[in-house]
Amino acid sequence: MCGITGYVGVKDATPVLINALKKLEYRGYDSAGIAVFDGQEILVRKSKGALKFLEQKLAKEIIRGSIGIGHTRWATHGEPSDINSHPHTDVSGSIAVVHNGIIENYVSLREKLEKKGFAFKSQTDTEVAAHLIHFYYEGNLLEAVSKALKDISGSYALAVLCDKQPDVIVAARKDSPLVIGTAKNEQFLASDVTALLEYTRDVYYVDDNEIVEIKKDSVKFYDNDLEPITKQTSHIDWDIDSAEKCGYEHFMLKEIHEQPAALRQTLSPRITKEKKIDISEIASDEILRSTERIVITACGTAYHAGIVGKYVIEHFARIPVDIDIASEFRYREPIFNPKNLFIIISQSGETADTLAAMRMAKKCGARIIAITNVAGSTLAREADAFMHTNGGPEIAVASTKAFTTQLMCLYLIALKLAELKGTISEENLSKAIKELETISAKAEIVLQDKKTIQKFASRTFNKKKAFFIGRLADYAISMESALKLKEINYTHSEAFAAGELKHGPIALIDTDTLVVAICTQRALFEKMDSNIKEVKARGASVLCITYENEHFFDDSADAVVHIPETFDEFTPLLSIIPSQLYAYYCSVQRSLDPDKPRNLAKSVTVE
Ligand code: G6P
Repeated sequence: MCGITGYVGVKDATPVLINALKKLEYRGYDSAGIAVFDGQEILVRKSKGALKFLEQKLAKEIIRGSIGIGHTRWATHGEPSDINSHPHTDVSGSIAVVHNGIIENYVSLREKLEKKGFAFKSQTDTEVAAHLIHFYYEGNLLEAVSKALKDISGSYALAVLCDKQPDVIVAARKDSPLVIGTAKNEQFLASDVTALLEYTRDVYYVDDNEIVEIKKDSVKFYDNDLEPITKQTSHIDWDIDSAEKCGYEHFMLKEIHEQPAALRQTLSPRITKEKKIDISEIASDEILRSTERIVITACGTAYHAGIVGKYVIEHFARIPVDIDIASEFRYREPIFNPKNLFIIISQSGETADTLAAMRMAKKCGARIIAITNVAGSTLAREADAFMHTNGGPEIAVASTKAFTTQLMCLYLIALKLAELKGTISEENLSKAIKELETISAKAEIVLQDKKTIQKFASRTFNKKKAFFIGRLADYAISMESALKLKEINYTHSEAFAAGELKHGPIALIDTDTLVVAICTQRALFEKMDSNIKEVKARGASVLCITYENEHFFDDSADAVVHIPETFDEFTPLLSIIPSQLYAYYCSVQRSLDPDKPRNLAKSVTVE
């Protein structure tokens, strides 16, 4: 998704903006640009493709100045091209705008502006904002932006520069993330904090419908009607190293390896000295005990975590759980009552569909619990309660540690509900907690032996089709595994409940098919073995993921990868790791960039 940034201060703005845009690259983009006021006028440089093309342009056409805005564009309206890249300017070049989001009424606004004589250069929705602000400008940029926003419907994080007031950036937000970083004599803005961390750890989270006037030594917040708002800064306490590669070839590989530590960070603060689960941050015992039904909603990887959540909550706490994809849920007519808990899961806490689903559930009176990795995110701030996954920043587009830490949160919720509902004995609860405490070390063990996966990936990375099969929790992990391979290796990969194979999918199996069988549900080993034999007999290459010292599948599969022994219910925390590594090594074999897969964005802030 688009990334925006801005700088006003004492430094040369160009390198600061480029640096910030590099940190936002992970969000996904197809062109980039900056606008800097050089003391005389606003100069714009933009380029289709990777940031390095913009840098090459800037090396030849240097611009110096201490105030500017920048953008990485993920095309929505109009193809990726130099012209459609941001910043966009008004006709006179006196106002420059960067925008993340979608101006939904841009067609009618464009028509109106064209009738008034404004000439458009690009096919984008954003260009209307530049012309509109010009239209309303009467010597005060803040007022002009505020008036323009009243005409605009849709979502936006905007930053605006004006050559007549070259000491100010005006920014605004509605349904698209925006943070302001503040330091002595300089201020920064960006779509997320990772872009600012190098310069400051003190940030303001801009809320919906707020407009900000940013000068070198001041940051002033206003509402839609320009009434002043008082805001506090938040201090970011995670380390900048967590947003750097630290010697790993890719962020994805680094983040896969961070899972043991991330899982520990999620779990330990929630286990008391008496070895009890404390998740009082999400609700009182009374509320949890009286919960009659749970609804989980999310997108992508987070949705897959939710499916595991359904299985484990129903298994341990015997509470019915519905799970839905947020983009579907928001257009249904779901039924809630105040005894229902609504669990919403999102790594970024900014996914447009997920936020819409949450707002809808809130209106229906459900208690909203957000599981997210980003403390200051919209989701964390708008939910009734927030459970921090504590995984540290996740930069690679394909989610890894966010998934396993989301799972850990869901296990804690399941076991706590079971304790309060009396559906688990004290003995079994303490055994389960003890087992969860071993998971981080077991994840280390999975990561120690990557050779089998690497070798299998080098033999099978260019298979035309890949099917992941499993039963129960293994089926949920099959879905997440298939998504990983799809995202970063562009393989047509699908997950099937193993029992469904014979109802259709088996017709697709041939010698160009890879089947990954996830087999960690002991009671179902024989069934899975039959499935493996069925696909082998039709020419598929089969990789099996099962327990260590387990030889059940040795004769049926082509290769077997092992995970340490644990409870069958907890295997998702471990069995996903070989699949993440498999997708990663396939992508590297194909010389793709696993961190930035084509067409995908880390944080999907538009619908
Ligand atoms: C995008 C990302 C996925 C992610 C999904 C949901 O599609 O590419 O990796 O799972 O959004 O994101 P969220 O931040 O809400 O978990």
